[in-house]
Amino acid sequence: MLVAPSILSADFGHLERDVKTICDAGCDLVHVDVMDGHFVPNLTIGPVVVQAVAKAATKPLDIHLMVQNNTFFVDLFAPFKPRYISFHIEEEKHPHRLIQKIRGLSIRPAIVLNPHTSPQSVEFLLEDLDMVLLMSVNPGFGGQKFIPSVLEKARRLKDLIEKRNPKCLIEVDGGVNDKNVHDLKAAGVDVVVAGSYIFKQENIAHAIETLKV
Ligand code: DX5
Ligand code: ZN
Repeated sequence: MLVAPSILSADFGHLERDVKTICDAGCDLVHVDVMDGHFVPNLTIGPVVVQAVAKAATKPLDIHLMVQNNTFFVDLFAPFKPRYISFHIEEEKHPHRLIQKIRGLSIRPAIVLNPHTSPQSVEFLLEDLDMVLLMSVNPGFGGQKFIPSVLEKARRLKDLIEKRNPKCLIEVDGGVNDKNVHDLKAAGVDVVVAGSYIFKQENIAHAIETLKV
């Protein structure tokens, strides 16, 4: 399992320190939650802060857009050379076009599905995607409870992926901990995002280790 700590749960007064801590502790990606106060009822960070995160990080960035006007935000964050940019299918009229745009910027494109959205919504996009991110909470906040139906969704998505693009990864975001990570692994998940579970622990390296199942 690859582990992507969400910096939403970091101490923003010591952001550089916390980004360095998770990178030194062996995380695989640094998950950056961008919220615009419109697509989700919360507002987080913009390019000034993401630039500082990119500077401190020694692991690739995984930018999760929870915004309206995806194209505008892709252009805003592309200069920081993230490995992935993911956008919500629920907020995009032309997902295929945006995938091509992201790839054209040498960034790996990913699509996010909210808890109610069927895996079939990405079936005909899979061959152009590097990753599909399944939300296991409603997007907007850290520290929420894991929604177990994501396990069945991951299994169904895995079947579609095996048929259409076996290289495409499955990532799950929200309420992930050392208990449910085993079920996620069994369901075919490749990457977990975890915020509160990792940052509330004294020993960050140990917390990350417990998710690498
Ligand atoms: C929620 C964000 C998540 C969040 C995860 O909208 O996309 O990345 O930070 O936090 P936890 O792991 O605390 O649920
Ligand atoms: Zn996220």
